[in-house]
Amino acid sequence: MTDDDRHVDLSRRPRRLRNSESIRSMVREHRVHRDDLVMPVFVTAEDGVRREIPSMPGIYQYSIDELDRELDALLDAGVTRIMLFGIPARKDPVGSDTWKQDGIIQRALRHIDDAYGDALLKITDVCFCEYTDHGHCGVVDDEGRLLNDPTLDNLQKQVVSHAKAGADIVAPSGMIDGMVGAIRGALDASGWHQLPVMSYAVKYASAFYGPFRDAADTASEFDHRRRYQMDPANAQEGRVEARLDVEQGADFLMVKPALPYLDMIRRIDREFDLPLACYNVSGEYAMIKAAAEKGWLSELDVAHEKLLSMKRAGADVIISYFARDLAAELPE
Ligand code: PBG
Repeated sequence: MTDDDRHVDLSRRPRRLRNSESIRSMVREHRVHRDDLVMPVFVTAEDGVRREIPSMPGIYQYSIDELDRELDALLDAGVTRIMLFGIPARKDPVGSDTWKQDGIIQRALRHIDDAYGDALLKITDVCFCEYTDHGHCGVVDDEGRLLNDPTLDNLQKQVVSHAKAGADIVAPSGMIDGMVGAIRGALDASGWHQLPVMSYAVKYASAFYGPFRDAADTASEFDHRRRYQMDPANAQEGRVEARLDVEQGADFLMVKPALPYLDMIRRIDREFDLPLACYNVSGEYAMIKAAAEKGWLSELDVAHEKLLSMKRAGADVIISYFARDLAAELPE
């Protein structure tokens, strides 16, 4: 048989570049680096607690007196960036723990500053759902509907309080209209011009947040979230959300969840110049963990491949529960 008979031109053979690991790594287009990763950390106001989250094996709630175990393990693995979530001693209708100087996040920030200084970059999730007794991301009316503008006032109090306690970046996650502008304004008015805002700009009402509810002890029903988080069926709308956040002064944009929304990571990366984060959420973690427990998937290989897909799509920063376990195998 000749090439003519086969109707192909075999003068081009892409497989030549796959012949050895040495060649493959030379032409590798994307890598996940340790510096790309942010590890979520759950801190509870109780004492003496290291409690594994049932739907997220390997992820724990820590009280402040137990927290250093996790932070030491992160630093050993080469992860130097964390995103903090708090579980307060007491919830109330407005989530007032979020703006108190002895609130759980504020205490955790001061502790981490004292114990680790600049070795860890502390990003705070800025929301109310872990702190309100009804589980919504802000102030609600009698029918349980989220009130947008009164929530903005409380967001301003929350971020200034985080800033005072030592946050390095604040990351509002509530999908409240105007949240980035309100936060930027409050920070600037209090002298925190240098504190960056990482906006959860394109956040969907996703069933993939299921295990997070165990992790953060939140009460909200999924259906209500559809009133403020985006419809998973929408793509164009993500650009509207991102554009508004850019105009309001966001320093980073984020797409969340990550894996089912790689198309959105691509779109936002193409259209906007800001650094782009994505959140590889709890359900994305749980499904790999569950399959790996059954011996059906090789956990870290699958996790790495998944994070590579986010890099390929255009993410610069990946917030992932796999950060600690994966980092040891990654370049800086
Ligand atoms: C809001 C917040 C949530 C997550 C991160 N920030 C919960 C929600 O929006 O319902 C979910 C993260 C995950 O599922 O891993 N505080």
